[in-house]
Amino acid sequence: MNDYIIETRELTKFFGRRNVIYHLDLKVPKGVVYGFLGPNGAGKTTTIKMLTGALKPTYGEIRIFGMEMPRERVEIMRKVGYMPERPIAYKDMKIFDFLVYMGRLKGLPKEKAIREVRELMAYTGVGRLAFNRIKELSSGQRQRVTFAMALMGNPRLLILDEPTSNLDPLGRMEFIGKVLELARGGKTIFISSHIISEIERMCNYVGLIKEGQLIEQGRVREIVNIESRDYDVIVSDNGKLIEFLKDKVYAVEVWEEEGVVRVRLDKRFMESFFLDVPLFLAENKLALKLFKPHTSPLERILMKRFNLGWEE
Ligand SMILES: Nc1ncnc2c1ncn2[C@@H]1O[C@H](COP(=O)(O)OP(=O)(O)OP(=O)(O)O)[C@@H](O)[C@H]1O
Ligand SMILES: [Mg+2]
Repeated sequence: MNDYIIETRELTKFFGRRNVIYHLDLKVPKGVVYGFLGPNGAGKTTTIKMLTGALKPTYGEIRIFGMEMPRERVEIMRKVGYMPERPIAYKDMKIFDFLVYMGRLKGLPKEKAIREVRELMAYTGVGRLAFNRIKELSSGQRQRVTFAMALMGNPRLLILDEPTSNLDPLGRMEFIGKVLELARGGKTIFISSHIISEIERMCNYVGLIKEGQLIEQGRVREIVNIESRDYDVIVSDNGKLIEFLKDKVYAVEVWEEEGVVRVRLDKRFMESFFLDVPLFLAENKLALKLFKPHTSPLERILMKRFNLGWEE
């Protein structure tokens, strides 16, 4: 089980008789930004709490860095930056002291912890709040402090539970930029969210959870490609091309959208499409201006495929 940074097997959680997580097999490869997507109540937070040792699985196995959770919790969590959904107790503590304290818990020497806190507070945009108490912060400010907390000690793995839920639009954009930057620096990042458009911008890997079960998992590129059998074509006479394609066996549908001919292909006969079109163009002396697969955005595919009923 050592190929993945996070790997679970048949991870299952009951609350009393209620089965909230069922047979979850998460696989998070090294270096990916993994979007853990699912609607409210799907089980994201419950899963994350089990990954970080805050909740005990009813059964199943969790390995992080190849170590076993919860048995090796302390050792694992020294290498993990965790941003919980509902952040921070210690409401009377000052931000600066709180972060230094968290750094010490991570095993940092005091001097190093202080240095890191200064840097991270500036990095997450709470530099001016150093001497405010946690209870005095707005929810967005609190989320920023929690992000700084997760980054203490330069962990190799970040586990972030809806890290942008309280951020303003600019804050969200900045956050996405930071995630991409951290990923480039080699960190593995696991982020839960129900905002597909946001996940699409920062993640290259997704896992979809619905009613406690993982219904899809893999590279975003691959998930999107499963459905991408639409082709976009522009030629010097689009009308002629549409006429030609209309009754072909490989063209399930042909239509024009904003000057682009879009062809929905039957995957079984796609080869014929690739042979036919160039011949047709040559015979009719038509110029080819655009020819590329139309990749639909993740959002549309997920909505359609899983009927998830998201608003955003
Ligand atoms: N301590 C608990 N006791 C009983 N049921 C719980 C408990 N914690 C969570 N649940 C239930 O488990 C289900 C999953 O909750 P969870 O918080 O994991 O969802 P989520 O995917 O994080 O949702 P959200 O997007 O709203 O944060 C919910 O139906 C919730 O009511
Ligand atoms: Mg949650």
